[in-house]
Amino acid sequence: MTDHHHLEQRRVRFDFEHTPLHWVPDEPEASHIMNTLHLILPAGEFWFCRVYNKALPLVKDARLRDDVQGFVRQEAQHARAHDSALKPYLLRHGIDPAPFTERLDWLFDRALCDHPLGDNALSRRLQPWWLRQRVGIIAAVEHFTCVLGDWIITTRALDHADPVMLDLLRWHGAEEVEHRCVAHDLHVAIGGSLLMRWLYMPLVSAVLIFLFSSAMKSMMRQDPTTRYRPGFLSLWRQLGQRGVLPGMGHVGRSVLRYFNPRFHPRTEGDLNVALNYLARSPAAQRAAGERGAVPA
Ligand SMILES: [Fe+2]
Ligand SMILES: [Fe+2]
Repeated sequence: MTDHHHLEQRRVRFDFEHTPLHWVPDEPEASHIMNTLHLILPAGEFWFCRVYNKALPLVKDARLRDDVQGFVRQEAQHARAHDSALKPYLLRHGIDPAPFTERLDWLFDRALCDHPLGDNALSRRLQPWWLRQRVGIIAAVEHFTCVLGDWIITTRALDHADPVMLDLLRWHGAEEVEHRCVAHDLHVAIGGSLLMRWLYMPLVSAVLIFLFSSAMKSMMRQDPTTRYRPGFLSLWRQLGQRGVLPGMGHVGRSVLRYFNPRFHPRTEGDLNVALNYLARSPAAQRAAGERGAVPA
């Protein structure tokens, strides 16, 4: 069970008016790969919220209910924050997200919806099972978001990057570390097994590589400076070696840890480091100031 830490929604806002397309200086490929998050996460994280709202009535433990509700509030804010980068940032720089996001909507709105094979008697009967599978998928994804979140708040290799985009990614990464236990605890609470965890990790790893690769290519094709570049895995390896992306070995070892039967996310990342960043994040500080300024 999670050490109880109430999950707060921070209503952050970002102004991308002065953020360059290549927001990591002289690193167009690393900038594009991290920008794939703006394409993937709005649809993905709002899907998390829909699945968790369905699972909430199954949770009897008051602390876990509070965690799940806090998780939903934070993920909804993450989705809105990344979505806010699409028009004033990507479109302003001539990158149209639609060729990728229209295909992605099929995944979350059709393939992973409540009734992917139609609303019929069999589908209704399978609802508890199907909900458990989707919660298991989210638990595997959340392992990656915690590992990547911990990396973005602790790496010093990006300190010289655009401060607004870096703050968006670090605020998000810190909240991923902050709520790292919720998905795992929910999966266990509704009957998710170790075997399901083992099955979903390779599946989720393959789907995430496909999504990052497709989103990266969609953006790079629209940018004259990155039109002809090697594939995603090759780029990831090179950029990881230079430190501007998390290393492949670092992420690969985190995948292996997930297969440990005693795995629990509380040993991933460092909550104090995450809360420390959230206390000094410019966007989180502004959000706290605005909340404090609202009359009771
Ligand atoms: Fe998130
Ligand atoms: Fe998350």
